[in-house]
Amino acid sequence: MLRTADLSVEKINKLLQDADEFSKGKTLKAKGEIYVSNLFFEDSTRTKTSFDVAERKLGLNVVPFDISASSVNKGESLYDTVKTLKSIGLDLCVIRHKKEKFYDEFKGIDIAIINGGDGTGNHPSQNILDLMTIQQEFGKFKGLKVGIVGDVKHSRVANSNAEVLRKLGAKVYFSGPEQWFDEGTIINGTYLSIDDLVKEVDVVMLLRIQHERHDSDEKLKLSSDKYHRQFGLTTEREKAMKKDAIIMHPAPINRGVEIADELVECKRSRIFKQMENGVFARMAILKTALEAKGFEFE
Ligand code: ASP
Ligand code: CP
Repeated sequence: MLRTADLSVEKINKLLQDADEFSKGKTLKAKGEIYVSNLFFEDSTRTKTSFDVAERKLGLNVVPFDISASSVNKGESLYDTVKTLKSIGLDLCVIRHKKEKFYDEFKGIDIAIINGGDGTGNHPSQNILDLMTIQQEFGKFKGLKVGIVGDVKHSRVANSNAEVLRKLGAKVYFSGPEQWFDEGTIINGTYLSIDDLVKEVDVVMLLRIQHERHDSDEKLKLSSDKYHRQFGLTTEREKAMKKDAIIMHPAPINRGVEIADELVECKRSRIFKQMENGVFARMAILKTALEAKGFEFE
């Protein structure tokens, strides 16, 4: 599973249905021995941990792989690392890497790959857990208005969510500092000021500023405080939201920057629900990726 938008609507719905069943207590275990590993070349708390939990719940053998103590540090390439793990007997790797479309390198290797996030490209497991959270709330995507706010240009969550939400019939709006928007950024949505956006949408999806992906001329010359007041979800803006609108954020969160501290756990917030759903979404993704390789579950 590399890009959610490449999946048919039918396949996306099947993943959501499986994830929903897992969330309601359905259990499945791998038939036979399946070996998997999580290779995170970029930092992660949620994605890596919830893949680990999801793998164990499905009865998979999780082989620990610590990039910082691996032969990557002796110059071994990504291709050779994955080819080596395949030779040793791994069946599936979840990989996060700063290089966009890093997975194109593995075309000749017969191993299941799940994209745990590729640069500014895609974050498919985040997409499925976000869709799951939205569906639990509204029961549909068609006609739903989703506002994505912040560093849209550098966020793989924003870009991949916008693409798949549009494919499912939702209307996407964006907001944030204009320097992070250009024609390429807003192909999948409409730009609004933050004050207009919060009144318009059913979902306010906030983003962390992707400092690690900025080159020197993209750095924002604004204090956290000013960013919050100009572009963030302040307590005043939350009051202007529609009655049943919800707040989402892929996290990690910078409290007081993109979102007011007191809103992180407010009634409208689904931020920790997203994390809870992440385990079930990842179980569904693992099952689908392994079944496509001929493995079975019972
Ligand atoms: N954790 C998400 C990602 O890896 C969002 C973020 O880091 O801001 O893309
Ligand atoms: N949302 C997300 O991908 O979180 P991590 O970077 O902590 O995995």
